[in-house]
Amino acid sequence: MRRYLYFVTFVAALGGLMFGFETAVINGAIYYVAEHFQLSEFMKGFVVSTALAGCVIGALFIGKPGDKYGRRYMLKIMAALFLFSMLGAGLAANIWMFVIARFLGGIAVGGASVLTPMYISEVSPPKIRGKLVATNQLAIVTGILVAFFSDYMIDSLLHGSWRWMFLAGVVPSAVLWVLLFFISRSPRWLVKIGKNEEAREVIKRVNPEEDADLLMTSIKDSLKEEAANKRVSLMKKPYLRLAIIGIAVGMFNQLAGINVIMYYSTDIFRQAGFSGEAALFQSVLIGLTNLIFTIVAMSIIDRFGRKFLLYVGASGMSVFLGLFSWAFITDTKSGFILLSLLIGYIAFFAFSQGAVIWVILSEMFPNSVRAKGTAMGSFSHWIFNFAIALLFPVVSSMIGVGYVFVFFTVATLLSLLFYRFALIETKGKSLEEIEKLILKK
Ligand code: GLC
Repeated sequence: MRRYLYFVTFVAALGGLMFGFETAVINGAIYYVAEHFQLSEFMKGFVVSTALAGCVIGALFIGKPGDKYGRRYMLKIMAALFLFSMLGAGLAANIWMFVIARFLGGIAVGGASVLTPMYISEVSPPKIRGKLVATNQLAIVTGILVAFFSDYMIDSLLHGSWRWMFLAGVVPSAVLWVLLFFISRSPRWLVKIGKNEEAREVIKRVNPEEDADLLMTSIKDSLKEEAANKRVSLMKKPYLRLAIIGIAVGMFNQLAGINVIMYYSTDIFRQAGFSGEAALFQSVLIGLTNLIFTIVAMSIIDRFGRKFLLYVGASGMSVFLGLFSWAFITDTKSGFILLSLLIGYIAFFAFSQGAVIWVILSEMFPNSVRAKGTAMGSFSHWIFNFAIALLFPVVSSMIGVGYVFVFFTVATLLSLLFYRFALIETKGKSLEEIEKLILKK
């Protein structure tokens, strides 16, 4: 009987899929784009990271219009921006048109990174909310894989035709935009703007098995609480410590170097001496490993806990990152070795950090500051993501890829200490129990 609920979740999750696609499509294209527009290493980093600057802005500013015009309406605008950005990047006559198109696409990614989980959590019944919200991460990694695969296919069929890599993204953007006309507006948002009757209709349609009155009351209660907490500051005691931990969670997630692989793996494989096609294919394998281990993590996260996954993940990642640096520094660039090391690294990342970061950020703050805290953690993730994407080409051409990975290895080892001493385990606890534990610490 949950067919309609699954349908609306699926449509909203396509926002996550576009998040993955838009950020990863650059991987297969950047080499050709750099060649076509004759970019320096600095400009290359600049071009890749402008989309991420857009993400920072999108994530930061979507809250207000999302409240004013609604989640579904703003998701439609994001879908239109995705479409526009794919067309713009694909048809760009010069590098500045390309950069503007990517920046606008970045705003859509940042916006979708907030709206998609928000919409899903607002339509789903409490009992299966966690599972449904987690489909967002699954959609992101699926989008990354689709982008890698489409880059690879386009390169094999139409050699070097980077424009088609972006134009291919028009299809999923358009599908998202059209399907958004077939889903309801968020019931929580409808209550917020005073449309109680419509909200009740939506609840009955989405959750025919649940007690609509009960859900309406709980929505009203949580909105009251939200209004009462508007003035509570995250930057003062007792929350300041949590704010710092939230920032560190976003930071360590990025200092593991994941997005250097997500955006530049094809380039790295080329530098290691592979042909373009082989390099693109290796990125497909990386995307596939990412998807498989995200699914594994999601299926055991509630049994083994968040910290367990993080410990196993950070230990495994440090080993593979260390070996990868060693292979690059000593020039042991056998294709098989490099690829196996990166696949090992990605498997441990997806199994831990990748799957866990968004869960931790949505659980680690008490009710009164949850929305602000989650937004701050995600903001920190985008800022570090931006900085690393910007700096990687220049720094690696100065000191070599191997030494950049030494830095990621050290950061990942430090993250292990951070998880051990700063995080509390939230597995199997209600949000209220977590709140008590956090404030006691
Ligand atoms: C996580 C990271 C994100 C990365 C993705 C790769 O969601 O936070 O930055 O691109 O995993 O799977």
